[in-house]
Amino acid sequence: MAIRSKILGTGHYVPERVVTNAELESLMDTTDEWIQQRTGIRERRWIDKECGASDLAKPAAEAALEMAGLEAKDIDAIIFASLSPDYNFPGSGCLMTDLLGIPGTPAVDIRNQCSGFVYGLQIADAYIRSGIYKNVLFIGSEVHSTGLDLSTRGRDVSVIFGDGAGAVLLGPSDDPSQGILTTLAGADGAYAKELWVEMPASRFIPRLTLEGMEEGRHFPRMNGREVFKHAVRKLPDAVVTALKSCELGVEDVDLFIPHQANLRIAEAVQKALGLPDEKVYNNIMHYGNTTAASIPIALDECIRSGRLQRGQLFACGAFGAGFTWGSAIIRF
Ligand code: ACO
Repeated sequence: MAIRSKILGTGHYVPERVVTNAELESLMDTTDEWIQQRTGIRERRWIDKECGASDLAKPAAEAALEMAGLEAKDIDAIIFASLSPDYNFPGSGCLMTDLLGIPGTPAVDIRNQCSGFVYGLQIADAYIRSGIYKNVLFIGSEVHSTGLDLSTRGRDVSVIFGDGAGAVLLGPSDDPSQGILTTLAGADGAYAKELWVEMPASRFIPRLTLEGMEEGRHFPRMNGREVFKHAVRKLPDAVVTALKSCELGVEDVDLFIPHQANLRIAEAVQKALGLPDEKVYNNIMHYGNTTAASIPIALDECIRSGRLQRGQLFACGAFGAGFTWGSAIIRF
């Protein structure tokens, strides 16, 4: 049985279409200045033809396999994190087995929104260390753009989100000093309605109504201030607690990637942790908030650019709808 699980390869994919803040100005009452000042976002990627979260995930998964020197047939299980799956059911993980040509491979879909990566990593780590599965492919993928309220009513949410996919292939390591050192995850459903999509919902009869759509209840809605307040407290707590459980401190971290929710949240978290700029990576300026894909996209960029080297200590933290939160500490 493996002592730890480690990252074998990473990959990401974003749609080609760049949507600038100026383009959003033509759709709703907003300005480039407002968006940059409040969120740090300059542009995001949105799909330009019908395409699902699984389609974005395919090239990301292939890139992760290539980096690992493995083939699709070597994947023993898939964990797919998304709040914007291709369909209500079946899950996008099932679709991946078809897209990757590996029928029969077990596929789990998880619904942990912006915390999808840390939750998925925790599950993958448990699978690998217990010996249930050897090579586990984690995917975080989102197609937000087809579900946003692009009128002025939805402007607080719609300027934030982008489409994209990130993939991380994990496998066993016999080296106790390398791999996932710990993961932490939490949730509090008392805040479910602070950031949510209400409809369609099985608790309503019928699940979706014309009236509900006219009121915009099928679009994501957010209490931005409440999200901000909780994120800047929970996220640093999650990172410090996880580090402590490994007898490590913030000073040991070589690279920290916060979930790319909003640059102001990331900066507040960096400040709370007391980390210098050179140890923190943000890319929200270019992609917006890609939810479950945000940390794996950033991680792949850091690995490919040499910003994260083998042997270095990597920490990440997330906070999102649910509320959910979590962190992971990895000796890469
Ligand atoms: N363009 C222009 N004006 C806007 C826009 C927009 N896109 N959106 C909202 N406004 C207006 C509001 O209508 C309001 O106008 P009013 O004063 O006339 O009523 C004004 O700007 C201020 O609105 P607030 O909501 O008070 O603005 P705030 O300073 O709180 O900023 C924001 C809003 C950016 C959403 C902020 O609350 C925030 O950063 N929250 C965190 C939420 C977040 O990052 N979510 C990401 C997804 S969740 C996750 O990943 C964790």
